Amino acid sequence: MIDERRKIMRVLSGEALTPPPLWLMRQAGRYLPEYRETRAKAGSFLDLCYTPDHAVEVTLQPIRRYGFDAAILFSDILVIPDALKRNVRFTEGHGPEMDPIDEAGILALKPEGVIAHLEPVMETVRRLRWELPAETTLLGFCGAPWTVATYMIAGHGTPDQAPARLFAYRYPKAFEHLLMLLAEISADYLVAQIDAGADAVQIFDSWAGVLGEKEFEAFAARPVAKMIASVKARRPQARIIAFAKGAGYQLKTYRQKTGADAIGLDWSVPLAFARELQKEGPVQGNLDPMRVVAGGRALEEGIDEILQQLAHGPLIFNLGHGITPQADPANVTALVERVRGWRN
Ligand code: CP3
Repeated sequence: MIDERRKIMRVLSGEALTPPPLWLMRQAGRYLPEYRETRAKAGSFLDLCYTPDHAVEVTLQPIRRYGFDAAILFSDILVIPDALKRNVRFTEGHGPEMDPIDEAGILALKPEGVIAHLEPVMETVRRLRWELPAETTLLGFCGAPWTVATYMIAGHGTPDQAPARLFAYRYPKAFEHLLMLLAEISADYLVAQIDAGADAVQIFDSWAGVLGEKEFEAFAARPVAKMIASVKARRPQARIIAFAKGAGYQLKTYRQKTGADAIGLDWSVPLAFARELQKEGPVQGNLDPMRVVAGGRALEEGIDEILQQLAHGPLIFNLGHGITPQADPANVTALVERVRGWRN
């Protein structure tokens, strides 16, 4: 049974609501002065993720300020490689780094103890469900196997994931082993978040857009399908949003192939295509985060176009990717007011 007060849960079950409920990817982050303050107190970024007091606080900050319809657990997709002992670190101005993995390293990975290592995250989820307003949906999340694998193989972020694409062609067996291991661990991790109190979960495949047709099928869609089947077999009530950034035309069959309840859309997805996708179920997105930085007419026009095209069907209003540190918090206030003021 879903809690009818949680609008996002209703949309995830296929209802169309006017105005549509909203939250923003990366809504807890550096654009907020209160986040920067807690971040400074916490020490390292991973300490922030693993200290429930701090992680709960930064998750709640955007809810207090804007009253979004969902809170997303504050953590990171790279806690999985961290739990796999890949020496993950976040250094100022460098983005995430870890020890790059090779074939032998992949075969030596041990899934035992991963969920135990992530227990502070589950504690954060339990406390959040207790502290959040009843109408706020609590979202858990994890990275998709392909996106997490790209960081594990390169050891850092890259613009086109060339190291992981190359590795997949050169060492197909080891690569497949890595994807399947990540799918299994990530499914267990999502089940643990759901058991701790997450209402729904989102799977982030932020680098799906760099894959060719066959590779999208094998490295993006298939492992996510495996994860969703595993979570739903154990927790049939679970609602799952799958966000394959940059997947373009491949989104046409992505929902059906993965079994996701809703699909996330980045801002490059044409709204006419988004309407087609929405005929088959709920969609989430897809405002260009740069419109939130620009503010004014650019922000208003972007919001209105999405609402005109998609607000008649099941829609969770969101950005097409995470909000950036340059965004002015006042522009987010304007965004929330405009979406909430919408009438079809
Ligand atoms: O508010 C939320 O959305 C919840 C928290 C969240 C973070 N990361 C916090 C974070 C979520 C859902 C993520 C997901 C994530 N992390 C993704 C998938 C979504 C996406 O944006 O594509 C990816 C690829 C990562 C990996 C990652 N973490 C990178 C590449 C970076 C560095 C980039 C940056 O913005 O600095 C991070 C760090 C990170 N994760 C920050 C935050 C708020 C900034 C770190 C800081 O505060 O110093």
